[in-house]
Amino acid sequence: MTQIIVLGATGSVGETAFRVLQHDKDRISVDGLVAHHNFDRLWEMGITLHARWIGLTDPQAWKNQKGGESGTPRVVVGLDAILEEIAKSPAEKVLGAMTGFAGLRPTLTALRHGKDILLANKETLVAAGDLVRKMATDSGSRIIPVDSEHSAIFQCLALNQPPRRIFLTCSGGPFRGRRKEDLAFVSVEEALNHPNWRMGAKITIDTATLVNKGLEIIEAHYLFGVPYEQIEVVIHPQSIVHSLVEFVDGATMAQLGWPDMAVPVQVALSWPERWSLPQKPLDLTTQTLSFEPPDIETFEGLEIAREAGVKGGLYPAVLNAANETAVSLFLSHHIGFLSITRIIKDVLEEFQDNRVPTTPEEIMDTDQWARNHALEVAHHYQS
Ligand SMILES: NC(=O)c1ccc[n+]([C@@H]2O[C@H](COP(=O)([O-])OP(=O)(O)OC[C@H]3O[C@@H](n4cnc5c(N)ncnc54)[C@H](OP(=O)(O)O)[C@@H]3O)[C@@H](O)[C@H]2O)c1
Repeated sequence: MTQIIVLGATGSVGETAFRVLQHDKDRISVDGLVAHHNFDRLWEMGITLHARWIGLTDPQAWKNQKGGESGTPRVVVGLDAILEEIAKSPAEKVLGAMTGFAGLRPTLTALRHGKDILLANKETLVAAGDLVRKMATDSGSRIIPVDSEHSAIFQCLALNQPPRRIFLTCSGGPFRGRRKEDLAFVSVEEALNHPNWRMGAKITIDTATLVNKGLEIIEAHYLFGVPYEQIEVVIHPQSIVHSLVEFVDGATMAQLGWPDMAVPVQVALSWPERWSLPQKPLDLTTQTLSFEPPDIETFEGLEIAREAGVKGGLYPAVLNAANETAVSLFLSHHIGFLSITRIIKDVLEEFQDNRVPTTPEEIMDTDQWARNHALEVAHHYQS
């Protein structure tokens, strides 16, 4: 039976994976589950899924009365101990569903030890795409996308025919149709109110600024080796068509389904097989599907992110770190919504370094520089 480790087990993708893994328990067994500080939920999940160990990256969060009794998971505390556990684990697959740059070290450790990565944690690929790809090639690991758009593209590319263009679909987020001046005073609650998807707070804000789609352009570039000029974004408010691939003869394939991460999670687990999943069938006769171009004047973050991707090297890491910092400042009510994109732009303009990183340390140093710089810049924009 295949064994898996789930990173970010207590998050939105992690909860979906929990559902799917319960359904697939005869095919996949859980070696380890990792979260940041939600010990109670992680413990419950560990018991239900018969995990051998559970890991908490935040040592303060461990309620040390539990763990290790017969039939219960062993508790591993702190990032370094978790990395050691991943390195020696017999699991062949690791689901990367942590949020943010925090996913980088566990992902690199898993790749170094030849494990396949089922990747939801796009920030890792954005910040360290060249390194992640090189490590996967060197160790023979596969990177299978879990992000719904990239899973759709992955499924459309199953016959290995080279794409002419990739179209990433995008719901447009909660502020689709608004003008920039309407967005100056939107609240955190409004920005968190996504029309189609229930996700963690950070990615939900990214979908409101459209920076998420910019990160996904970079993610697609690294996952599929497609040049940036061949990756387009199309707004599709219903989130039924998860993305499309156009081939050299003009034929275009799409993958459709309800907006539910269970399918991309299970496709990544089962690939190249397909396993059954109890899902409400898609009824297209009850749906109207519409498509429009993105409003790049209002949602500047999309093109700013694409430009960082095109520059390459360390620029996507700077983009990612500035965005994570700005989103966190917005969520804690320190800056307004439009300041997120302004901070990213300012930090990227300040950055002048054309190196192509070859070590994780270069990326981590740059990440730290960009976070510090974003905090400095944010003083000008405090609300
Ligand atoms: N949600 C979606 O539908 C969706 C779709 C496509 C892609 N993604 C991507 O999947 C990733 C996860 O998204 P999400 O919406 O599931 O996020 P989420 O609900 O916020 O969950 C994040 C998970 O990561 C853990 N975590 C947070 N900070 C951490 C840290 N510093 N170190 C280690 N673990 C940490 C959390 O643990 P605690 O609970 O203990 O804090 C939780 O398990 C993101 O990269 C996102 O872009 C999400």
